Amino acid sequence: MNVEILYLNDEDMEKLGATDMNAVIHDVKRAYVLTEEGDVLLPGKLAMRWGKTPEDENVYGRINAMPGMIGGEYQMAGIKWIGSGPMNYKKGLPRASVTMILNDCDTKLPVCIADGTAVSAKRTGASGGVAMELLSREDASVLTVCGAGAQGRTQLEAAMIVRPSLEKVYVYDIRPESAEKFAEEGRVKYSDVEFVPVSDPEAAVRESDITVCVTLANEPFIHSGWLKKGSLLMNMADYEVTKDCVRKASKIVVDNWETIKHRLISTVAIMAHEGEISVADIHAQLGEILLGTKTGRENDEEIIYFNAVGTGILDLAVTTRCYKKALQEGIGTRLTYWH
Ligand SMILES: NC(=O)c1ccc[n+]([C@@H]2O[C@H](COP(=O)([O-])OP(=O)(O)OC[C@H]3O[C@@H](n4cnc5c(N)ncnc54)[C@H](O)[C@@H]3O)[C@@H](O)[C@H]2O)c1
Repeated sequence: MNVEILYLNDEDMEKLGATDMNAVIHDVKRAYVLTEEGDVLLPGKLAMRWGKTPEDENVYGRINAMPGMIGGEYQMAGIKWIGSGPMNYKKGLPRASVTMILNDCDTKLPVCIADGTAVSAKRTGASGGVAMELLSREDASVLTVCGAGAQGRTQLEAAMIVRPSLEKVYVYDIRPESAEKFAEEGRVKYSDVEFVPVSDPEAAVRESDITVCVTLANEPFIHSGWLKKGSLLMNMADYEVTKDCVRKASKIVVDNWETIKHRLISTVAIMAHEGEISVADIHAQLGEILLGTKTGRENDEEIIYFNAVGTGILDLAVTTRCYKKALQEGIGTRLTYWH
């Protein structure tokens, strides 16, 4: 008997709905809920870093291995293998490249190899979108995006879906030309929203209902005094916001505390490592709020800090949905694995 693997490239994945943000938001919510229900396996994230210190990875790069299994309607195991080349932009290449391998839960054999690059960016946007839906003011009108890269774009896309009330978007990037380009694209895509590139984030953050940080910064550049009453501060990457921002928040909400602690790159993770906060200070994981066992935003006054580091099962959920559709529609290339 021949054993085959289905190979899905970037164009196949696009056709299969990998970039459909509404569908990705649905998958991400299901992954969070299944996590709280104990219907996943999440053994942890392994970072293979280049360079001599943890900070070096934002210069020399890394490849992360993110295995998992997701139950529910997905029933799939697999791994996300994600390379990050911070200097790739100089070669005209994206920073991140993702290979997904899906494995059958029964036989454990590989069934699919897929390009997960777009999935990864979309699911991070979706994760941010779920946080915005649960934790930002319903009438949020001003957003600041820090980091005008791939993730910044999907954060914006999700924000526009979950908070159609947004009227103004500030964009800050260490490379001003990137912020300009982001704003130009935004004006074309969302013609009724004002886009303002800024070279200093302070005034923008002071005015913002939502601030999302998706940069490669290792030195905090967002300060607690800038945070507006009722705002949501989203620390989606590394050490981007000061410890005082976390201290000032009425609630600390995370995607997955175990993974955050283990990965040890974000402000709240560093504070936990240094004994400045404990698990008791973490108000909720997103899945608990989705399940209704914990509260999300409770009034228009509280400042909420959110941190997400991401887990492989988000990508697994999206890729499995695409794989099942590929089987139904005959999309992709069948490769012989064993003769
Ligand atoms: N939380 C998650 O689940 C998750 C998922 C994917 C990526 N990320 C993280 O998001 C970050 C951005 O990823 P990306 O794919 O968009 O990368 P990218 O290279 O496409 O974009 C990053 C942008 O940040 C800018 N930047 C770098 N240093 C900065 C600084 N100090 N201040 C302001 N801007 C700065 C760069 O100029 C660039 O435009 C990475 O750190 C990545 O690890 C998080």
